[in-house]
Amino acid sequence: MTSDAGDRLKTLLPESAAARLQSLRLSEGRATLVLDATGLAAGDREAMEASVRQALAGDEAVAEVRVAMMADKSAAAAPEKPAVVQKIIAVGSGKGGVGKSTVATNLAVALARSGRKVGLVDADIYGPSQARLLGTEGQKPVAHDNRLVPVASQWGVPVLSMAHLSDPGQAIAWRGPMASGAVTQLLEGHWDDAEILVVDLPPGTGDIQLTMLQKFKPAGAVIVSTPQDLALMDATRAAELFAKGGVPVIGVVENMAGYICPHCGEVSDPFGAGGAEAAARTMDTAFLGRIPLDIAIRREGDAGTPTAAGEGPQAEAFAALARSIADWLDSR
Ligand SMILES: Nc1ncnc2c1ncn2[C@@H]1O[C@H](COP(=O)(O)OP(=O)(O)OP(=O)(O)O)[C@@H](O)[C@H]1O
Ligand SMILES: [Mg+2]
Repeated sequence: MTSDAGDRLKTLLPESAAARLQSLRLSEGRATLVLDATGLAAGDREAMEASVRQALAGDEAVAEVRVAMMADKSAAAAPEKPAVVQKIIAVGSGKGGVGKSTVATNLAVALARSGRKVGLVDADIYGPSQARLLGTEGQKPVAHDNRLVPVASQWGVPVLSMAHLSDPGQAIAWRGPMASGAVTQLLEGHWDDAEILVVDLPPGTGDIQLTMLQKFKPAGAVIVSTPQDLALMDATRAAELFAKGGVPVIGVVENMAGYICPHCGEVSDPFGAGGAEAAARTMDTAFLGRIPLDIAIRREGDAGTPTAAGEGPQAEAFAALARSIADWLDSR
């Protein structure tokens, strides 16, 4: 390359690229540039490369442009923040009202109690319940860098729910794509510290579930069912949806499993007993345990003081569930 041609090409470069130029060679119509890309984000690198190509394309001596971006290795090896490998646990069911949200809250609280860093996403856009269950009603998340910052709860579990973004009681009439967009925003919040994200899914197998499966690929799914046959058939459908999406089903939790009489403590089985365990066997998945139908669980849920944060056999049932889930995650 004549130095004249080289100097001419250098003057054609945009200032930002010229400042980073390490070398420029022109040989048989091919211009080869090496640029120092230290500290540039992927998008900025691409933009710089494109601007270089455009600047040199007009020169008569240049038939082809090759741009090599070199990053300083020591800088590249030290990212600003160690990335947390975040694992999503989806809590779903085929049928509504079986206690997904209650199980999701208490699972998250029990995991946090056992020392895990957990966040909770309320993916039920149409009927959000996590603000109530975690006692964070009335709190509004702020946005930072265009992403939502989760709301802190008293139980060591930060949370994002549409309930924090809309007024209580206000009907939410999102269309499918908008609802999926809303779920995406909740999941893409600043969850930086959370190693586990528990996601409370809406009932059924609609758009939101699909977005979850396709876009965020949960590490595993927990299926909640009541013991009666109808709920179990729906649970099987939910399990099939996860399996189709390539999301492993961790197992089935039987909720409202035995009624504990608040007066005499006697246990009865209004919805039958043991059905979910049998269904888990049929589905070839694990049975993760029973949570009894206990009026205290409902009351504590409504009061925003999750059962898993307290003491007693019900708190222990959620703690046992959390241990199973944590063990499953650790074994992956
Ligand atoms: N084990 C339990 N004992 C007593 N009440 C319970 C239990 N589990 C859930 N509930 C109550 O049952 C109702 C439904 O529970 P929850 O909202 O968790 O169900 P869900 O499956 O999330 O419902 P949806 O499909 O509407 O989202 C709530 O009032 C809750 O407090
Ligand atoms: Mg719910």
